[in-house]
Amino acid sequence: MTDSTPRAPDGPALLGPAFYDHEKVFDAYRAGRTLPDNPNSTLEEPPVIEFLGDLGGRAVLDLGCGDARFGRYALESGALRYVGIDASNRMLEQARRNLRGTRGEVRHADLGTWNGFEAAGFDVVVSRLALHYVEDLDRLLTVVHRCLVPGGLFVLSVEHPVVTSTYDGTDVEEGFAYEWRVRDYFVEGRREDPWLGAVARKVHRTFETYFRALRDAGFRLDALSEATPRREPFRSARIFELRRQVPAYAIFRCLRDP
Ligand SMILES: C[S@@+](CC[C@H](N)C(=O)[O-])C[C@H]1O[C@@H](n2cnc3c(N)ncnc32)[C@H](O)[C@@H]1O
Repeated sequence: MTDSTPRAPDGPALLGPAFYDHEKVFDAYRAGRTLPDNPNSTLEEPPVIEFLGDLGGRAVLDLGCGDARFGRYALESGALRYVGIDASNRMLEQARRNLRGTRGEVRHADLGTWNGFEAAGFDVVVSRLALHYVEDLDRLLTVVHRCLVPGGLFVLSVEHPVVTSTYDGTDVEEGFAYEWRVRDYFVEGRREDPWLGAVARKVHRTFETYFRALRDAGFRLDALSEATPRREPFRSARIFELRRQVPAYAIFRCLRDP
């Protein structure tokens, strides 16, 4: 996500699904996810998994599911049902391959306009690194609320507000920025992130805004993580040290009001 290696942006800023459908981006993103010490595995995943707890017997909805590797994990962990939503065709194709032979399913929908399901049938909603692509967060959160059973769990991760403020890192080593220029922190709204050979359109929000939006939609914030790097998941001590310089992610654990 926050690789700020100088590169020539290629074309106009693309909305989330179109960005991931860009051939160069899709291949580079997938390759990045297999690298040892990639930030998703070392930083974002541990708190998400901890916040979700036991998925045994749960119905799980995943917003911005990408390749649905998480769906496979959820079902192997005992989840009864898994539904992933995404609007990138390439991601969904990969997701169907990853879920083959399981009862997991994925659906094509744009989270910017998606209206959810008729009944509140999910015990758990998870959304990993997708909601900072969505402009109308308030609208989507009311949909999430409707999808969850009373008392249900909502875990979401986004790029850290410090990162989304500017996408302006320097002193890159091994692809990691270890200094970040923060400007316009309180000027919320659209940002352009030149990344993986294209430009992604993202949305910057402060922590206050995430908190207010969740509370106003009827969620109680139960735990918060800034994905503080822990030594164990890292193979390289050097990358661990680099990752302690700039926060990468924010993860919220919320409960739907009963
Ligand atoms: C960084 S990837 C994360 C994928 C997956 N959640 C994971 O953690 O591996 C972001 C995903 O959000 C999806 N996404 C972004 N904006 C979206 C939108 N408006 N509607 C549906 N999916 C969207 C993208 O297509 C992409 O698959």
